[in-house]
Amino acid sequence: MRILAIDTSCDESCVAIFNTDTWKLEADEVHSHIASIQEYGGIVPELVSREHLVFLPQVLQKALSSAGITIQEIDHIAVTNRPGLIGALLVGLNFGKGLAWANEISFSVEDHIEGHLLSPLLIGPTSPQPPPFPWIALIVSGGHTELFYLENALNKKWLGGTLDDAAGEAFDKIGKILGLGYPAGPVIDKLARTVPEDALATFRFPVAQVAPYRFSYSGLKTAVNLKVQSLGLIDDKTRAVLAACAQSAILTQLVREVRRALAAFPRAHAVVTGGVACNSKLRQLLPEAFFPQPKHCTDNAAMIAMAAAVKHREGKLQAAPWNASASARTDWDLLHLEAETAAPLGVIR
Ligand code: KG4
Ligand code: ZN
Repeated sequence: MRILAIDTSCDESCVAIFNTDTWKLEADEVHSHIASIQEYGGIVPELVSREHLVFLPQVLQKALSSAGITIQEIDHIAVTNRPGLIGALLVGLNFGKGLAWANEISFSVEDHIEGHLLSPLLIGPTSPQPPPFPWIALIVSGGHTELFYLENALNKKWLGGTLDDAAGEAFDKIGKILGLGYPAGPVIDKLARTVPEDALATFRFPVAQVAPYRFSYSGLKTAVNLKVQSLGLIDDKTRAVLAACAQSAILTQLVREVRRALAAFPRAHAVVTGGVACNSKLRQLLPEAFFPQPKHCTDNAAMIAMAAAVKHREGKLQAAPWNASASARTDWDLLHLEAETAAPLGVIR
């Protein structure tokens, strides 16, 4: 079966084609909207929705021609319908539905977070193999910071996540405070590499410790903001040290909670996915973890094709009804709400 997958959950228009007979990706196209939103210093939801309208048909054509096939050779369309920016999701979902309807192809809806979680399964001919299940999977992106236990590709348990901002958002907002542009994660990563290890003690930013498998970044953002205000004019060297110290505070939480989960689930192997999984220091700090190749850590449709392909292999791929809708939230977000109302959270140290 040939699956055509579409993801428009945020600011990238993505289309991929996956062949379940050969278990190979035949196309993997991503068009980023960064050039159009950079001047605003972050994502403008209405703007990215309009960008998807313009670029998605072009990205589809690119994917079909790079696979060397026509739409008639597609057997199934899988579209991300949750979670994400609602306008952006609606564009991709309705585009996918229209394509499926017009060409009499079955279609299903997929969860963007499930896609990220299964992205370690996207391996090229020369890339290393992911570890066997069970996995402790950390997803760290601009929208999510969540920790899961995966018994296998279809069976997962949410362990916990962030109480406020995602790690990627912390990178981007701290970058904004430091005047580093958007998205700031890769810039901070690069700047931090110029800072010697002993300079990481220069600014002691808070590392929230709320409860097991919980993360929190809003206090860190405030701390960096206050420090920058108190310093006044900062030179490039100080800016780099501030960025490296903030990065260190972000990563310390991530590493600590992954290791906590590995100790609690000794049979499991760690995998880390999502845009922040591109971070070179995180890769260095967690040598025991498997990281997908960077192009499959950031948003892509190959991971959505994989989510559908894995279900198809197990006979569990369900066609979605034509009135299927999009949702800004997903099951994992609801688990957050349940957990937070059920248990006192303790003190931030
Ligand atoms: O997974 P992704 O492409 O989109 C979402 O689903 O959110 O993640 C984007 C996030 C941004 O916040 C970006 O700053 C961050 O990933 N990011 C990084 C790096 N590359 C991308 N953060 C830290 N270091 C990097 N090298
Ligand atoms: Zn994502």
